[in-house]
Amino acid sequence: MNKRDSEALAARLTGVYHYTLAASEEDADVVLLNTCSVRDGADQKAIGKMQMLIGQARVHHRQCIFGFLGCMAQAQGERLMTLLPGLNLVLGTHRYHLLGDYLSELVQGKQSRIVDCGGVKECPPFFDEHLMAANTAAEEEDKDGAAHLSPTAYVNIMHGCNQHCTYCIVPETRGHEFSRSIDGIVKECRSLADSGVKEITLLGQIVTSFGRFDIPVSEDGRSGFVQLLDAIAEIDGLERIRFTAPHPKGYGKDLVEAYGRIPKLCESAHIPVQSGSDRILKLMHRGYTAERFLEIIDQLREVQPTIGLATDIIVGFPGETEEDFQATVDLVRRVHFDNVFLFKYSPRQNTPAAVMPDQIPQEVKEDRHARLLQVVNELAQASYEQKVGATVEVLVEGVSRRNVNRLQGRSRCNKIVVFEGPAEWVGTIRKFKVTRAGQYSLYGEPV
Ligand code: 5AD
Ligand code: SF4
Repeated sequence: MNKRDSEALAARLTGVYHYTLAASEEDADVVLLNTCSVRDGADQKAIGKMQMLIGQARVHHRQCIFGFLGCMAQAQGERLMTLLPGLNLVLGTHRYHLLGDYLSELVQGKQSRIVDCGGVKECPPFFDEHLMAANTAAEEEDKDGAAHLSPTAYVNIMHGCNQHCTYCIVPETRGHEFSRSIDGIVKECRSLADSGVKEITLLGQIVTSFGRFDIPVSEDGRSGFVQLLDAIAEIDGLERIRFTAPHPKGYGKDLVEAYGRIPKLCESAHIPVQSGSDRILKLMHRGYTAERFLEIIDQLREVQPTIGLATDIIVGFPGETEEDFQATVDLVRRVHFDNVFLFKYSPRQNTPAAVMPDQIPQEVKEDRHARLLQVVNELAQASYEQKVGATVEVLVEGVSRRNVNRLQGRSRCNKIVVFEGPAEWVGTIRKFKVTRAGQYSLYGEPV
């Protein structure tokens, strides 16, 4: 989500305000950190990084403008200014359309410090017109001959979330659910496909709720989200569709069937379960039981037996007993996920869980995290090893992160595949035979 916002903001600053992208932070006259506050670790990391950047600029006597954008800026506002004396700008998630103007004031020295977090509820979100303005600027650049730099791209389809999970800061920082129009999204995806993009990941805090207030369910029972998937699948040149993050409640019959019906929809799903204990799921206000989650997984595997499955889990939620934790371990074993993003619960300001009784001591969180991580890694390793000998279809994305002499891409089930090949392969879809499994990656030879 933040990555897409960053791309859109960069496109707007370069396209409309004539900034150019600096090669590194040290070369930049303006440094903006787009932050996330979903977990406390990310907050601390962003503050630490900003502190370091401001310190370095001071040491080298460089004049530079520093700004914080995103959820963390939204949540902390003025406090960041007190914490970081060299900071110039704090801009909340619903004020992005003002970024260019604020930067002009700072660059021209008319102001030295600006904090604007607006009110999440009453301000227009960074949609559709503002985001589209940014995208139009990017499209204009593309028309000048530059192809999209990567064969994969992210597209925001909705914003905010009304689910109000009791641990989550998103409803506070991102506000109410708001969906873009199918036409606007299709137009953006088509323009990306025209500039060479082969795979699009649709983004939103709760993508499966897309259009639920404005798009009626079709006569054949398809939700707004599935109608969007169908519309995007029609785009020529686009080969693959993914999305994140969905909510289990969105996996009705129509979405499960879509996996069997829409060839461009990759057989991979990242469905956050958060806990395997019904008692904890209720306290989290998730709106499903472990049994219902398992039913969804079984249905998906029936339609697509090789589907890659990932999830998010929080350990140490207030009141979580050893028995609740074991229920999560059991669910993880039963599903046999390919990947699990594991989090230790961290209290977020103004969320109901932060003031719930029975907060779990840090040592217990650490212990449960370590124990579950071991199970997760073992299961993931087994699922990667199971792929050895199989043939997988890979979209070649670029040079391998670990070894510049190799290329890498992702299989349809979302596993990284590393192989040797010429640079011309980037952006093409090819078949590889898996020769061995690494940790969270596969190695292959062309078929
Ligand atoms: N503490 C720990 N993890 C959290 N997440 C969201 N809020 C919190 C929190 N307060 C995790 C959830 C979510 C992922 C993006 O971050 O698992 O799915
Ligand atoms: Fe947060 Fe996701 Fe729950 Fe929405 S569905 S409140 S974004 S965890």
